[in-house]
Amino acid sequence: MIIAVDGPSGSGKSSTARGVATRLGLRYLDTGATYRAVTWSALEHGLDLDDTAAVAQRARELRLEISTNPSKQYVIADDVDVTTAIREPRISETVSKIATNLDVRKELIRRQRAIIDAAQPTGGIVVEGRDIATVVATDAELKVHLTADQDARMARRGAELTAGAVTADQLRDQIVRRDADDATVSQFLVASDGAVTVDSTHLSLEEVVDVISRLAKE
Ligand code: CDP
Repeated sequence: MIIAVDGPSGSGKSSTARGVATRLGLRYLDTGATYRAVTWSALEHGLDLDDTAAVAQRARELRLEISTNPSKQYVIADDVDVTTAIREPRISETVSKIATNLDVRKELIRRQRAIIDAAQPTGGIVVEGRDIATVVATDAELKVHLTADQDARMARRGAELTAGAVTADQLRDQIVRRDADDATVSQFLVASDGAVTVDSTHLSLEEVVDVISRLAKE
């Protein structure tokens, strides 16, 4: 069983996908964390991020271990625990650029598919990202496109960031810029055929998890 959860930044994807995995006893894969880990590593190595070949090479060489336990998430990159570091603003600001590198995508998609395959004997996996239903796991049994209006997405992002770390304007700029960057590889943001769109604007996390869990059991 594969459940794909795609959607833009701040749509509540991560909490939702983790919640569904926990509810249904499935594994969980945060594909965004793989792009973040490559970004962390490229910065750590002082690479010129416009040097697409060097960044892609880094992606191929990186030793990456990512937890698929929904209640205990961690990411280890080249033996360093980067679970917290990959959430830093310097990574959030750069990751979309790295994610437009098609050779990086090719390598990470290969790794994501291996993780998804490995989870099948355990019952299945909930995979969240931008291109899961359209590219990574086109054979997913359930494809969810999670959306929320911009204000709701901003409010959620705001709650995640430490109070006072950014202003509301900066936050909105970040979301608008990230959407624009993500849209440059346009297929990420288009709902795939057969995907169910769930608008989380007026739903609590619990309610969204309920909706998706029910769809999974149909
Ligand atoms: O939580 P948020 O949606 O803000 O970010 P994320 O899921 O951690 O993903 C970080 C970035 O990685 C996104 O803004 C995309 O640029 C990229 N990404 C992607 O291109 N494809 C995916 N399957 C997942 C993430």
